[in-house]
Amino acid sequence: MRTVRLSREQSFTGPLVLVNRQHPLQAAAGEDLTAVDGRRPDILLDRQAARLLAACIQKVRGGAEIVPVSGWRSQAEQQRIWDDTLAESGADFTRKYVAYPGCSEHQTGLAIDLGRAAGHIDFIRPAFPYDGAFRKAAAAYGFIQRYRREKEDLTGIAEEPWHFRYVGAPHARLMEENGLCLEEYPEFLRERPRSCPLPDGRLAQVFYVPCAGEETEIQLPDGCCQVSGDNAGGFIVTAWGRPA
Ligand code: DAL
Ligand code: ZN
Repeated sequence: MRTVRLSREQSFTGPLVLVNRQHPLQAAAGEDLTAVDGRRPDILLDRQAARLLAACIQKVRGGAEIVPVSGWRSQAEQQRIWDDTLAESGADFTRKYVAYPGCSEHQTGLAIDLGRAAGHIDFIRPAFPYDGAFRKAAAAYGFIQRYRREKEDLTGIAEEPWHFRYVGAPHARLMEENGLCLEEYPEFLRERPRSCPLPDGRLAQVFYVPCAGEETEIQLPDGCCQVSGDNAGGFIVTAWGRPA
């Protein structure tokens, strides 16, 4: 065991941050952004998320058919998208498909919109198949479909089959198996610690630590651990066990 002490600000960052209208972004995106695809150097993503996205696309041999449409967005870009969509398509459509500036997870660098290659790809609502190999493989690479129809009341966003969010493999799997969206995930972990078998035979242990004030002390198990803020008052700890 070892002890780490984390500040409240650290609960605003990490791959598991919840960003929505009730939980605006409180920290700038990680500085470690990189292009997702050599053909689109302007579309950036967090480096780890970009690496795993490329690996997933390669695994399903989707390089020709899957096109990145939108990745990291600055506050100014999200504002421009909001304003343009409002002017072109009205308030109802905009609230359904564009997150309020400051409240978009695109601003974290952890979200990517994907489209199917075509002559015209809609920027706000790109067509992306429900039944493709990418969607089936996504959780193993740490991606979830973030906005589902049955969770619209919780996310505040309409169904978006094209919008994938990187959270990391054990978390994507736990959310998928338990039918949870990111809004529900911290509460699920607060109930009790969870474990999740990984494809390489290891077992990931996941537990939740609420912020204890300006500084939170966390006991980490031996071995490889990750601590992510949830941007909702706590930290999610992931510990990767040794191979069996
Ligand atoms: N389309 C998603 C909700 C966004 O604008 O972040
Ligand atoms: Zn999106």
